[in-house]
Amino acid sequence: MTGVRFPTGWHVETLAKPHNRRSFTCGNTQVDRWLRQSALQSQKKHLSVTKVLLDENDTIVGFYTLATSQVDFSDLPPELSRVLPRRQLPVAVLAWLGIASRFQSQGLGKRILAMALRDCFDASQSFAFVAVLLDCVDDSAKKFYRQFDFDELPGHPMRLYLSFRMLEGIMKKTSDTEA
Ligand SMILES: CC(C)(COP(=O)(O)OP(=O)(O)OC[C@H]1O[C@@H](n2cnc3c(N)ncnc32)[C@H](O)[C@@H]1OP(=O)(O)O)[C@@H](O)C(=O)NCCC(=O)NCCS
Repeated sequence: MTGVRFPTGWHVETLAKPHNRRSFTCGNTQVDRWLRQSALQSQKKHLSVTKVLLDENDTIVGFYTLATSQVDFSDLPPELSRVLPRRQLPVAVLAWLGIASRFQSQGLGKRILAMALRDCFDASQSFAFVAVLLDCVDDSAKKFYRQFDFDELPGHPMRLYLSFRMLEGIMKKTSDTEA
């Protein structure tokens, strides 16, 4: 996964009321509905944070939403839980991610995912978690994430995780590439 670069004039902002989120469409109605109707409310309640990638005309090109949660020790695969205490454990959640249909297949999904993981890693320097978790909206989303080191959580075929160790490895690889 390479460093995160976007075309000149494009920028990332935390979702706010003036962003034209009502016209966002990425081909998945659940994802569209989240951004259009729920993301800002959720953010106001401090349940999640959504970042939007805007082009030079302030059109929303893509977005991702991060949150936190807990998983039970027993839900994690043995290679991850082996050294962990037998209790609820903190996780970062990549709750939603989407690229507007007309901008898809240009490498932007990959880049916005890299940015979301960078945010997770940066947050981990202040608030620890054992893995990044995500729930796939459909099989197509699962295929997308499976390319990037996310593994299935045992017994939950649509729930994927990336251990903190893996996240750290990706971040190290990225900074080596950029150096
Ligand atoms: C999934 C999504 C984010 C991908 O965005 P994108 O900008 O088209 O993806 P990219 O162009 O960065 O693709 C990166 C790589 O993933 C591959 N890829 C993209 N979508 C894929 C999919 N659904 N399944 C398998 N591979 C996929 C590309 O071929 C590319 O591979 P390469 O690096 O070998 O060339 C986008 O299709 C989308 O928004 N879908 C609807 C919403 C959704 O499913 N969100 C995720 C769950 S919340």
